[in-house]
Amino acid sequence: MAYSINDIRDLYFNCDLSYLSNSANKICEKNYGNKIFLRGLLEFSNECKMNCLYCGIRNDNKKLKRYKIGNEEIISIIDKIYKKGFKTFVLQCGEFLTIKLKEICDLVYKIKNRYNDIAITLSCGYFSKKELKLLKNSGVDRYLLRFEIADEKIYSYLKNGLKLKDRIEMLYNLKELEFETGSGFMVGLPGETDEILMKNLELCYNLNLDMIGIGPFIPNPDTPLGHLKPKPFETTIKLTALLRIILPYSNIPATTASGTIIPDGREQLLKSGANVLMPNITPEKYKANYLLYPNKICLTDTIDDCLKCLNLRLNQIGKTITFDIGTSLNYKKEKYICH
Ligand code: 5AD
Ligand code: FES
Repeated sequence: MAYSINDIRDLYFNCDLSYLSNSANKICEKNYGNKIFLRGLLEFSNECKMNCLYCGIRNDNKKLKRYKIGNEEIISIIDKIYKKGFKTFVLQCGEFLTIKLKEICDLVYKIKNRYNDIAITLSCGYFSKKELKLLKNSGVDRYLLRFEIADEKIYSYLKNGLKLKDRIEMLYNLKELEFETGSGFMVGLPGETDEILMKNLELCYNLNLDMIGIGPFIPNPDTPLGHLKPKPFETTIKLTALLRIILPYSNIPATTASGTIIPDGREQLLKSGANVLMPNITPEKYKANYLLYPNKICLTDTIDDCLKCLNLRLNQIGKTITFDIGTSLNYKKEKYICH
């Protein structure tokens, strides 16, 4: 079914949260069953040239110890986590790399040569189309780049004058180059209105995203927006449910920020249309320095702790972990398989 922004508005303003959650859960279970895909998130460097007003790893934050995990160590982490069953790895770092593109290409090429049954997702900020082609050729399967907020003025204000249209252009480039393409936004940023939230949803829909990650904005005291108050979490749940309704075949993670702001925030999203979890596989000695926002969960937990904890949490809501590679049905539909 096709949706216009007016249809999305109607659903947002006229339907209550429990109706939307239940409908979203039904759609999710019809397409993905009760299985939740796992992605191992490796925050391989917290170096960042940007100064986004909301973000804890912004360049001006001198409280963090900056790190960059070398390629050999990254491969040994992946070897270890692969043995636990993981088939998807998300490599994330700050924006406008201090690391050379060639280094990343070499890394991905090596990993993909080691294992032929895994997917590599990159989340390293902006790249030109030419650079994206090199990444694609080295074996990157998926790319995550949140647009953060579908409002040009607020986007530029939050990201030091950068232009939203360049971000969106990169997302279209990713789609054209046949990456499985992920994006998303934060909920509760300063200046955000209901109309902007509708534009966020419309942009996700128009981009026909394969993966959509949204999460509450959590003010970080070590940033210029540290004094703000977070919005009620219900808005994030409602938007997750709406995303599942308008993009029934996409992968939607229950993000770490959701589990940080409310103890069962991830479970609430998984009951409202989300179907992915991204446990953090960054070694303990590094991950405390990847503090995008305060009180991030799982900082002292090992991957075994997280798996145990997630199994229990999923059990309580009638869902179960799968180690399937978890390609987005949206991507499969668009590219080749089911019509
Ligand atoms: N609160 C919540 N999410 C944040 N991110 C960055 N800073 C914060 C914060 N203070 C999100 C952004 C970014 C992703 C990696 O983390 O959406 O794209
Ligand atoms: Fe990491 Fe719960 S998911 S400890």
